[in-house]
Amino acid sequence: MSIVIAVDGTAASGKGTLAKRLARHFNFAHMDSGALYRLTALAVLELNGDPSNETDAVIGARTIDLSRAGDPKIRSDIVGRASSQVAAIPAVRQALLAFQKSFLADPPGQSAGAVMDGRDIGTVIAPNATAKLFIDAKPEVRARRRRLELESLGIERQEADLLAEITVRDQADRSRAISPLKQAPDASLLDTSTLGIDAAFVAALALVEPKVLRALKARQRG
Ligand code: CDP
Repeated sequence: MSIVIAVDGTAASGKGTLAKRLARHFNFAHMDSGALYRLTALAVLELNGDPSNETDAVIGARTIDLSRAGDPKIRSDIVGRASSQVAAIPAVRQALLAFQKSFLADPPGQSAGAVMDGRDIGTVIAPNATAKLFIDAKPEVRARRRRLELESLGIERQEADLLAEITVRDQADRSRAISPLKQAPDASLLDTSTLGIDAAFVAALALVEPKVLRALKARQRG
């Protein structure tokens, strides 16, 4: 059994950055599950398909190109909106499920564990995860962070527009019938509104480290 840290949360809450840092700290593998939905949306849009159409969206999910996970194109507002549309389609989630589960069961690079961030990792993908976090922050703070993140990718956006997009997407993600965005009952809530990235990391580590160390010791005992 590999060790799993599930990091869920609202849009632009900083869960990806925290997940990456936790993975580096424990020498675990990391997967940004949101990128799978964004890559699916990009594939649909590039095929001139409709992201809310099941047939088009499933073709997108089956043809995603993981080598484009770093492509700034997947961070655009159009792809962001479309990713939330494809993510509400059960057949799309089904098509992406096995990949996520096998990543967690057998993390690449012989890592003892994996950190995965998204919306449904602690609730659906890995309900028995070793440790679960739910990351949130005030919408205005998230909009500012997203503006700065996009700026670093060379994309200039108005904070007010980003705030509107984040709010709409969270609402859609929370209210969908399948795998909605919600805190798992056994997840620890971390509000990063007043925390910089280093302070947020320290707080996240304090919440997960005891559980991860216990699981690593149990593994060593065999
Ligand atoms: O980076 P940001 O927090 O804005 O979003 P993301 O994690 O890249 O996810 C983009 C979209 O994919 C979300 O709005 C969700 O609709 C969907 N998603 C999902 O449904 N389930 C996941 N595990 C991850 C993302």
